[in-house]
Amino acid sequence: MHNQYIFTAEVPSNIALIKYWGKRDLALQWPENDSLSMTLDSARTQTSAQIAASGPDMIRRADSQGVVTAYTSGSDKAVRHLAFLRRELGFSAALEITTHNTFPTGCGIASSASGLGALTLAAIAAWTGSASLTELETADFPRERLAYLARMGSGSAGRSLFGGYVTWHAGSSPSAQRIEPLAVDWPLTDIIVLVSRQEKAVGSSAGHLSVRSSPLFLPRLAGLPARMRLVEAALAAHDLPALGNAIEAEALEMHAVMLSSEPRLDYLQPRTSEVLAWLRQQREEHGLAAYFTIDAGPNVHIICAPHTAPEVVRRLNAAFPDLALITDRTGQGPLLYRRPTH
Ligand code: DP6
Repeated sequence: MHNQYIFTAEVPSNIALIKYWGKRDLALQWPENDSLSMTLDSARTQTSAQIAASGPDMIRRADSQGVVTAYTSGSDKAVRHLAFLRRELGFSAALEITTHNTFPTGCGIASSASGLGALTLAAIAAWTGSASLTELETADFPRERLAYLARMGSGSAGRSLFGGYVTWHAGSSPSAQRIEPLAVDWPLTDIIVLVSRQEKAVGSSAGHLSVRSSPLFLPRLAGLPARMRLVEAALAAHDLPALGNAIEAEALEMHAVMLSSEPRLDYLQPRTSEVLAWLRQQREEHGLAAYFTIDAGPNVHIICAPHTAPEVVRRLNAAFPDLALITDRTGQGPLLYRRPTH
């Protein structure tokens, strides 16, 4: 047993440039379409796991105010994922888990991506006694397998297991899915405009199930392969205007599907639209090279080159003094380490 050590995983969030929105198979977590994301750097979940003296599993989650909630059973996504991992991998030891995010949860920064990713890594590290990602690989858990397991907890979590830019290919069958990093070295900045810190009323998992009720969904699917090629080419060429045009169209299209689904999903708020209109005006009038994307929430992610970021922040602060900003950048992916319990 490895109960004299605590195993800590830090897994970053990611921002999808081509969105995963819709599941072909719920149980097998098979997405309707390929997606592509940029792994972030400082927006992370830090999760520690150690073998418990006796069961059941205990997950303690601290919120941004440090208030801790404990979970041992029930419908919590993390508790269910731990049960899945145990079934799938055949580990029996109960775990004591503590976890916290470095950013507010449920606000359009994908907390389930970093959260379920970090849980997957920390739990498997504790069960196998692995002190690093290299040791996990030796214990028969290469990165692709970890990404597969994380994806079963939350689809977008699979992409957070790699750094840089990551594609998730849906493949022609659930078992043909692939998650892999792109060979692109292009640091970009993501300035997240916090229009709201409220938890969203409808989580993504529920939203994924209603996509086919939108008359816009099939046309969207038909157009996505071409957009994916465009985004991959723009990333390879470091062509920000081409990337920006494609990701803005993509975000608006996903929200058009959401807004025309039954039940309707309206994540956008008046301030969201204000920020989008402002950004377009900044581009047109001042040549500001910055582009937006939006996830399943009201907050706006503004993507730009690192050298443009201070100017974007300065202008945002002047135009929207009441809105908080989180500035993040392309990150290297997860970390794993171990320390003694005493
Ligand atoms: C809009 O990965 O949160 O952020 O698989 O049900 O956990 P589950 O869904 P989730 O969906 C993310 C949706 C999105 C787009 C994306 O990240 O690709």
